[in-house]
Amino acid sequence: MKRKEFLRKSSMAAASLAVLPSANLFAGSNDRLLRVVIMGVGLRGQDHLELLLMRTDVEVIGICDIDDRMLASAKAAITKSGKKMPQVFTGDKYAWKKMLELKGIDAVIIATPWEWHKEMIIGSLEAGIKYVGSEVVIGITLQDHWDVVKAAEKYKAQVMMLENVCYRRDVMAILNMVRQGLFGELIHLQGGYQHDLREVKFNDGIKPYGGGCEMGEKGWSEARWRTEHSVHRNGDIYPTHGIGPIANYININRGNRFTNLCSFSSKARGLHNHIVNTCGPDHPNAKINFKLGDVVTTSIGCANGETILLQHDTNLPRPYSLGFRVQGTEGIWMDVNKGIYIEGKTAKPHVWEDAKSWLDKYDHPLWARWSKEAAGSGHGGMDFYVVHAFIESAKRNLPTPLDVYDAAAWSAITPLSEQSIAMGNETVEFPDFTGGQWMYRKPVFAFNDAY
Ligand SMILES: NC(=O)c1ccc[n+]([C@@H]2O[C@H](COP(=O)([O-])OP(=O)(O)OC[C@H]3O[C@@H](n4cnc5c(N)ncnc54)[C@H](O)[C@@H]3O)[C@@H](O)[C@H]2O)c1
Repeated sequence: MKRKEFLRKSSMAAASLAVLPSANLFAGSNDRLLRVVIMGVGLRGQDHLELLLMRTDVEVIGICDIDDRMLASAKAAITKSGKKMPQVFTGDKYAWKKMLELKGIDAVIIATPWEWHKEMIIGSLEAGIKYVGSEVVIGITLQDHWDVVKAAEKYKAQVMMLENVCYRRDVMAILNMVRQGLFGELIHLQGGYQHDLREVKFNDGIKPYGGGCEMGEKGWSEARWRTEHSVHRNGDIYPTHGIGPIANYININRGNRFTNLCSFSSKARGLHNHIVNTCGPDHPNAKINFKLGDVVTTSIGCANGETILLQHDTNLPRPYSLGFRVQGTEGIWMDVNKGIYIEGKTAKPHVWEDAKSWLDKYDHPLWARWSKEAAGSGHGGMDFYVVHAFIESAKRNLPTPLDVYDAAAWSAITPLSEQSIAMGNETVEFPDFTGGQWMYRKPVFAFNDAY
């Protein structure tokens, strides 16, 4: 699915949720009003804002951004919702620190460029906030990941990476099937981020998608910052949509862990060709030498013997797909061909079966319960669930279902894959952010229909 379509669906989400009878949507024994602030109300931050505005159990008391256009649309959404206008913090890159001085903040949501996440997470923890929800990823260097883990431990706070794909409907149905043993013992898993982002990485500085070849200061939204990572870095720079669901299938950090990793990168052609084909060979950006290989492939080993193949593929023409494959001793699922095969249960041996009836039959209880509320929300409904899980954990004062160790292990794939590629595809050790606790920790993700 194209980003444009995602965006359209997000706005449909706001519209459809707006007509729901919201008064008692989230009422229950754990109901209390949670005071939330948002750092970064760009396109993603606005998605989160709209979901929060729909909730009766959340008051958004502060928003912060440095882009007037983004702030204007965020404010328009708040006015439209009829909710009280939060305090707005802007003017400089550290205005978020002022926002953290607000009294009584229960939770922070961070949706700024990647390079800000670590600083904003740790700043929020130092300010005494116990629930920090950060957009993917949580740091740039390996040390950033350690710093976030150590800060969460020091302040006894929850840091949840808002990895929405873990809540995708088919991904959760497959989780249900994995837990019921339909695939037997899991052996090999695949996933990735395979999304043509050429019109996200370059735009006309006015619209968020396409229409030109600008990036950096002349670009807007993600073209303003994300593209720089393709100029300067070579590795799997966006691993979490692929690895999050896989990690839940094989209980990473909870009885299992990533042990080592090796990455290969192809040559880089897609972004340069896009500039030349769209804006001509004389466009100043045609001179840029992009470091990011068009397809980056990473193999990861696990303590329990599974192998994982992860791909990052954002610079070439291609339809969207996260390329999931879950393969065990008794069967296999793949999302690209929407196919499944369960030995002895699929009608014809050696022939793919349409996965739909299986996905319907094993629909996860969370989807069965909340699909009306999620209907129309961003990315096919999964955005509702990730925000819901974060807010419900904070309301109950309980650990978030995805925690700082998950965030660190999934997001650290980026610096580790950069390291592997830089060393000529050497295999690198995967650090154990849990400090040995992975052997004792139990799986907690999505075992009921609450959140
Ligand atoms: N989970 C998903 O499906 C999904 C989808 C899109 C984006 N994202 C993630 O969300 C994050 C934001 O992406 P986006 O698409 O909204 O980008 P964006 O560029 O549209 O928004 C980022 C916002 O952060 C603001 N900002 C930058 N520096 C700031 C600072 N110092 N203080 C306050 N605000 C600051 C920018 O002005 C901008 O409005 C990224 O981590 C991205 O990877 C996740």
